[in-house]
Amino acid sequence: MSKISRIQIYDKLDTLQIPGTDISPIKFKGVKGLDISDDGNVEVRIELPSQAKGHETEFESLVRETLLTVEGVENVSVTLKVQDKAYGQVEQQNLLANVKHPILIGSGKGGVGKSTVTVNLAVALAGLGFKVGLMDADLYGPSIPTMFAIDGEPMANEKGQIIPFEKHGVKLISIGFLLEDDTPILWRGPLLHKAIQQFMKDVDWGDLDFLLIDLPPGTGDVQLSVAQSTRVSGAIAVSTPQDVALIDVKKAISMFQTLKIPLLGVVENMSFFRCTDCGHIHHIFGGNTTMDAGDKLAAEVLGKIPITISVREGGDDGIPVMILEPESEAATEFNAIAKKIAERLNS
Ligand SMILES: Nc1ncnc2c1ncn2[C@@H]1O[C@H](COP(=O)(O)OP(=O)(O)OP(=O)(O)O)[C@@H](O)[C@H]1O
Ligand SMILES: [Mg+2]
Repeated sequence: MSKISRIQIYDKLDTLQIPGTDISPIKFKGVKGLDISDDGNVEVRIELPSQAKGHETEFESLVRETLLTVEGVENVSVTLKVQDKAYGQVEQQNLLANVKHPILIGSGKGGVGKSTVTVNLAVALAGLGFKVGLMDADLYGPSIPTMFAIDGEPMANEKGQIIPFEKHGVKLISIGFLLEDDTPILWRGPLLHKAIQQFMKDVDWGDLDFLLIDLPPGTGDVQLSVAQSTRVSGAIAVSTPQDVALIDVKKAISMFQTLKIPLLGVVENMSFFRCTDCGHIHHIFGGNTTMDAGDKLAAEVLGKIPITISVREGGDDGIPVMILEPESEAATEFNAIAKKIAERLNS
């Protein structure tokens, strides 16, 4: 693993001004790719508005010099592309113009339950009467096809756009529906960005109130690509109450901050286990640290989901716990979180 964090690079890029404008490449949503190698090579691709025409060499050196000040960075390679469009004259890129609220669901650590939380919140929001979509942006390990028990290829509409699947009131798209076999793809820079953009502009989402975007773990290129392609209403961080998970989720939160995405709060998953015989609560991933989670992260805990067999079975069998056991403690909590999100974003 490289010791240079993406957040350090984003923060540095955010201090720069695009020539001829008063905006940073991050705020302009111009950073289209970032690769960091273990030996300190940084490759960054930036798109600039037409105001920057003629200033490419100057801006390239500025980016290089600035990034070389980050500890551990040995070489910087900058690829710039100047667009025909000027900043200020056209609306900034928003590939999800018909979606009222795109919401990111992320975590630092893998396996803490992002996809489980995304699926159940999507079903809960649909149950509240909203028009809901779910984009599985985990290009490396898509789990939405399994969690909704959908196998097959989506159809295209007359404009050639992909028609998302629809189940339990939620419109769904995943790379898992589009790849012929399970061979993992080495997603790098431009290819990855293109795949994310296609999920936005080449999918017939229609009008949506909420589009929940399930991210891969960490703070990588998918996160960057999504954030630079649309206006995001907010992010939800998912964590278990363990210290190791909390350390990682902080990194995810800090990335959301750098990318100017408001944090809606943290969902504490696998928060506790309630003994089915005696009702006693066991804190499997640590003591009663649940409120500390909020303190440590300086973020609101939106809700606490227990570890239950039906949540796990629901994920494996493709029937979300919201449908499988709508009266369960977990489903009740998912509903309460969904209401909070809806109230907050619609107020
Ligand atoms: N509250 C819960 N109770 C029981 N099992 C759970 C709970 N939350 C998640 N799981 C199970 O834990 C496993 C990991 O969950 P999930 O795939 O949602 O995590 P993730 O953060 O999306 O993982 P990845 O980082 O790989 O994308 C799954 O088998 C899921 O069913
Ligand atoms: Mg997942």
